[in-house]
Amino acid sequence: MTDHRDEIEALLHEDRTFAPSPAFVAQANVDASIYDAAAADPVAYWAEQAERLTWGVPFTSTLEWNRPVATWFGDGQLNAAVNCVDRHVAVGNGDKVAYYFVGEPDGDTRTITYADLAREVAKAANALTELGVSAGDRVAIYMPMIPEAVVAMLACARIGAPHSVVFGGFSADALASRILDADCRVVITADGGYRRGAASGLKVNVDAALEQCPLVTSVLVVRRTGQEVSFTAGRDHWWHDLVDRQSSTHAAQLFPAEHPLYVMYTSGTTAKPKGILHTTGGYLTHVATTHSMVFDLKPATDVVWTAADIGWVTGHSYIVYGPLCNGATSVLYEGVPDAGGRDRWWRIVEEYGVTILYTAPTTIRTLMKWGEEHPERHDLSSLRLLGSVGEPINPEAWMWYRRVIGGDRCPIVDTWWQTETGGIMASPLPGVTATKPGAAMRALPGISIDVVDDDGRSVGNGEGGFLVVREPWPGMTRGIWGDPARFVETYFSQLPGVYFAGDGAKRDDDGDLWVLGRIDDVMNVSGHRLSTAEVEHALVAHPAVAEAAVVGASDATTGQAIVAFVTLRLDAVVDDDLVESLRLHVGQMIGPIAKPRQVLITPELPKTRSGKIMRRLLRDVAEQRTLGDTTTLVDPAVVAMIDELMRSAPADD
Ligand code: PRX
Repeated sequence: MTDHRDEIEALLHEDRTFAPSPAFVAQANVDASIYDAAAADPVAYWAEQAERLTWGVPFTSTLEWNRPVATWFGDGQLNAAVNCVDRHVAVGNGDKVAYYFVGEPDGDTRTITYADLAREVAKAANALTELGVSAGDRVAIYMPMIPEAVVAMLACARIGAPHSVVFGGFSADALASRILDADCRVVITADGGYRRGAASGLKVNVDAALEQCPLVTSVLVVRRTGQEVSFTAGRDHWWHDLVDRQSSTHAAQLFPAEHPLYVMYTSGTTAKPKGILHTTGGYLTHVATTHSMVFDLKPATDVVWTAADIGWVTGHSYIVYGPLCNGATSVLYEGVPDAGGRDRWWRIVEEYGVTILYTAPTTIRTLMKWGEEHPERHDLSSLRLLGSVGEPINPEAWMWYRRVIGGDRCPIVDTWWQTETGGIMASPLPGVTATKPGAAMRALPGISIDVVDDDGRSVGNGEGGFLVVREPWPGMTRGIWGDPARFVETYFSQLPGVYFAGDGAKRDDDGDLWVLGRIDDVMNVSGHRLSTAEVEHALVAHPAVAEAAVVGASDATTGQAIVAFVTLRLDAVVDDDLVESLRLHVGQMIGPIAKPRQVLITPELPKTRSGKIMRRLLRDVAEQRTLGDTTTLVDPAVVAMIDELMRSAPADD
């Protein structure tokens, strides 16, 4: 089994540096002096970057740092939707394309200009107002990757109603818990979307979720697939009835810079996902700046394709807010990479002349597995820059991406960041920073990343430790929705006053940064964050399960895969289908992405004398490595037995 972490670590001390080449087709919008200039006065640097935005009331204050909560540009006022849309129309760019929408079914495309977006957002804002939504109210969005999803987000932003976008692949239960946590009263959804060649159902999940959410008063439904859906009179409204009849003008109000823009749920180390809160002025400054610098964005000519889902933070920051603030043209693709053939992506790149492609290593590995013949059939010469995000990229995939997709002429930016950071934190700057396959290289200007030991001391070159951020930055989360104590405990308690990211990292002999992945019980499956506790919680809710322990094991394609160890209740009905029904059960409770790759039924779990399950050893078992130290276990024979079971178990898909 390939262990990417080992592959990356093995290369740490080899010199595989690619110097920034003047021959690259992408050169940064900035030069190397920006690092020192920003370091000399980071707050002034960010204040300068904030001028990228259009402020209705200019800010005079910059950073206020009341540990652990920062406020940025606190007395300024702005409107996020005006920054993303109206101001571009106002300067004569209404005809510029904001999105080339590519639906999964072949030929299902739409072109949306900034003027179109302005009209649609205004109408949707008017519709939400008619439904009684006002500033501060939370709105849940559960949609496929269609233009109305972006319109819905911007309409919420326009009226100051924070949105909570829930990934369309999440189950009804997962949706319900997020609706309840943020107390959303309105849900925007679609009948379904297209995925893997078929129409999936979304409204049906909303209906099921709302049985647990009696306070939701309105559901707005886009007709995407035309499938039958049930409607609850008085509560449910078709988008084409309610939105289409609204006025296409809407007077935007200004909101303070620190007005909440959105909540995005992400997995932590407990079973309950955290609602990560982002506010307006600092967040938009961060995503607009990084989108411009890291991607060398030339808004007049670039076609940007961030191949992620808007249900995750990458979609929020680099499909919606960053590109729109910068007046860029993006591709919005609804489906899976092999819909209509394994060259679907490369067809899209060729057809739309994509210049900047940004995706996750897991997808790169999948595309790599499918073979070079697919990209080779297409003209990819429009590409100028390639980006990677979401998990450590193994050097082999990095090299393939550079050579086969980038034709050795496009710089690669390996960008490290998190839902909590709002935007990119560490990455090479194209044409400025050297690159190494697998390394995020260095913190961006104005960002103070460090790698520290247990006592918070910076490690030397060639050493590893924890990734921390020493000083506040504009896009940083302002907290966990409804749980300020958990915010402090999660990010600011390990090393007081310093943001603790939960990732392990190394500085190599040159002092360059390598992010190695999570050091806590958060798994990263295909770039999706899931907690071991969340999956365990779902497993023990199954009537047959007594106890469950879940680990993330290295996987050649998905980075990590979920492996579950369960013990059964005495009265459990055991049949041949039990393992499959446990996998399906987790899929139903959380969503298909959380289905374990493997479920191993075992008579016991390895525990310490204090009753703690030793996940470290289960991870060794799952990865079929030599077992680590077993001396603290009550009964070391248990883990040896599980190891034996694992070796004889058939590997699932
Ligand atoms: O472990 C790191 C990994 O993804 C985690 C953040 O996940 P999420 O909040 O879902 O955001 C994903 C998209 C920004 C991090 O704690 N991660 C993200 N980017 C990288 C990475 N690990 C290594 N290298 C990266 N470039």
